[in-house]
Amino acid sequence: MLPYKSSKSALTSVEQFLMREYSENKNLTGELALLLSGITLASKHIANHVKRDGLTGVSDKTNSTNVHGEEVKKLDELADKMLIESLGLNADVAIISSEENENPVILQESGGKYIIFFDPLDGSSNLNVGISVGTIFSIMEKTKQSYTDPLEIILQPGHRQIAAGYIMYGSSTVLVFTTGKGVHMFTLDPHVGDYLLSRSNITFPENGKCFSINEGNSQSFSEGYHKWLDYVKSPDAGPYTARYIGSLVADFHRTLIQGGIFVYPTTKKSPEGKLRLMYEANPIAFIAEQANGMAIDGKSRIMEIQPHSLHQRVPLIVGEKKEVNKILSFIS
Ligand code: AHG
Ligand code: MN
Ligand code: MN
Repeated sequence: MLPYKSSKSALTSVEQFLMREYSENKNLTGELALLLSGITLASKHIANHVKRDGLTGVSDKTNSTNVHGEEVKKLDELADKMLIESLGLNADVAIISSEENENPVILQESGGKYIIFFDPLDGSSNLNVGISVGTIFSIMEKTKQSYTDPLEIILQPGHRQIAAGYIMYGSSTVLVFTTGKGVHMFTLDPHVGDYLLSRSNITFPENGKCFSINEGNSQSFSEGYHKWLDYVKSPDAGPYTARYIGSLVADFHRTLIQGGIFVYPTTKKSPEGKLRLMYEANPIAFIAEQANGMAIDGKSRIMEIQPHSLHQRVPLIVGEKKEVNKILSFIS
């Protein structure tokens, strides 16, 4: 009688998946599994608010601006609070750094193992028009127990991530993450109230023909980007199709599932680039590389960049290897 082998079917919850990962691969500690389930709990509350925006006014402005001088919506703050609270209870979390907090939130001076970076609500400018938004997270380990300035242990390059992922609040609510053993996707089943495995070991499809860039900024693109845009629009390259949602999580998720490339170069308005390294570019880059893709800043690998500040911005080019190498041939 063979022992029953559970199939990796949709009946696999994210918790069961993490426990199996933990028992089979040991690349995942039980604490990390617990930590991820803390994030998924907070995301269910965020999803609930996003779905009822028009009724509860979570997309109203708070009349305050964040460290980036961007206006903050109620749900930006609420999501940040829920995530910090759901993780603050976790004995292994030492520091949390999020887009909405200028300084890192030190939960434990000496204890705790993990540092967590969040963009609690990505694409919030799309919130009041019913377009997909998301939460992005990145997890690293403390490099040492004692420090004078927390930035000493926080500003680590992206290749030090041990887990990264996002939740996209879209036509369905999906959780996509990696712990360094492939990219896996879970869909929130509203009837069950759980994230259930919908795809495992996702890799970029080979021949996606979608390019995603905000051409409203094109007057400030350098020559190479203009040449690349001429190429993707030329008859011999095509047919490419243009898609731009304006929420990184949604533009990246479409690129991961359908293939193609997402590009956010430096612009006049954002001369360093717009996307933040620690909690947007790094986690997306970890997922992209685990899905057999590439993520660069136009010159080097995103995950090699040594951060110099917490909210540092970078240009981001991410997608299928073939497409990233193609644009590189124009811009480098
Ligand atoms: P956030 O809402 O967290 O500030 O992120 C918005 C970012 C990112 O989601 C998206 O890719 C980019 O802003 C869109 O910028 P543009 O509107 O300039 O194209
Ligand atoms: Mn964002
Ligand atoms: Mn945000």
